[in-house]
Amino acid sequence: MKQLIRGRLLTFHADPATTDDNHRYIEDGALITENGKITAIGDYADLADPAIPETDHRPHLILPGFIDTHIHFPQVQVVASWGAQLLDWLNTYTFPEESRFAQQGHAPQMANHFLNLLLAHGTTTAVAFCSSHPQSAEALFAAAESRNMAMIAGKVMMDRNAPEAVLDTPRSAYDDSRALIEKWHGRGRQRYAITPRFAITSTPEQMQMAGQLVREYPDCHIQTHLSENRDEIAYTLELYPQARDYLDIYETYGLLSDKLLLGHSIHLEPREIARMAETGSRAVFCPTSNLFLGSGLFDEAGLRAAGVTCGIATDIGGGTSYSMLQTLNEGYKILQLRGQKLHPLTAFHWATRGNALALGMADRIGTLDPGTDADFIVLNAGSTPAMSLRMERAETLAEELFILQIMGDDRAIVQTYVAGQAMLPISS
Ligand code: GUN
Ligand code: ZN
Repeated sequence: MKQLIRGRLLTFHADPATTDDNHRYIEDGALITENGKITAIGDYADLADPAIPETDHRPHLILPGFIDTHIHFPQVQVVASWGAQLLDWLNTYTFPEESRFAQQGHAPQMANHFLNLLLAHGTTTAVAFCSSHPQSAEALFAAAESRNMAMIAGKVMMDRNAPEAVLDTPRSAYDDSRALIEKWHGRGRQRYAITPRFAITSTPEQMQMAGQLVREYPDCHIQTHLSENRDEIAYTLELYPQARDYLDIYETYGLLSDKLLLGHSIHLEPREIARMAETGSRAVFCPTSNLFLGSGLFDEAGLRAAGVTCGIATDIGGGTSYSMLQTLNEGYKILQLRGQKLHPLTAFHWATRGNALALGMADRIGTLDPGTDADFIVLNAGSTPAMSLRMERAETLAEELFILQIMGDDRAIVQTYVAGQAMLPISS
């Protein structure tokens, strides 16, 4: 069935950091959706049709749904764990919490909470790490399928340097990943990401298995972590003494390509940056996590200048907010500390089309273009008393976006549409 959605539409067709002709804004705009797709976008006056039911979201903004390119589904109860940097934080809080996902019934319950939280925060697609237990990925895919949400996820492969309860083996990681790929990759809107957690928790034998999966399933994404923390890097290089640098480990096992998402990518050597650019491997900026865990300051301008495509993400539960608005807020501040600027148009492009480009999926998600999936959100820049007071002085679209970026959170999300379906308020 067709529907018309009316509001102030904003969609990007280029990166505002590279060109002035980058977005389309329609003050009294309309989208037509049918069968989960956007079929038309334009002025309301041109698209209005008495035969098509309408939902009027004026005076709010309508944007493509946010895309979160790095998040840990089994860490919903790890967020806000005190006092540790990466390796201690993993050992003290995270691995014990992820071990709960072995228990019957836990993963399905957490998957529901996780997806409801994403939707409440305006995120319509996420790239998610699951726990090492295949039932965690099973539960997440099933919950995403029941909401018709486009999810990219994988069970983590990890066979050392963690408690027994979260370890797999090279063989079981391969077999379980393969079975999940065969069942879920390309089923409806679900896609699989081959997920070696990071070099510290995978033996060379397991990295070999990850490489084999990548060769067998070249269409899958690959996600892991790279150079987040100085102690992590030192330990990694002790474990792989032959490697030229951290990235070289992943290269040795054949993981580098434009399907690879490298979470954090903070403390990089020039050679690593050059190889990432040459191979198309993506860096993923996780601002709230990098501040919370004291990891370091991402060099967006440096990576961009070198030709590395970057995503931006929450990294819950090292990250502290599900909100891509809050993620852009902290991202702005990190780049300030580096003497770099994140313009609001660039920021909103990044969280939508930019992340879709990082995933190679901009033909399906991340814009309001006809033919793409009808995943979009309705934003209210006056959603709190403080925001509405500040909005009295906003004169331009860029100012309104910046208020959303700095002051906004889930309260600014009026509605989240997934494949044309309004998902809020959450009922389950
Ligand atoms: N490196 C390996 N595992 C993790 C994780 O769960 N979170 C973060 N932030 N870094 C990691
Ligand atoms: Zn992570």
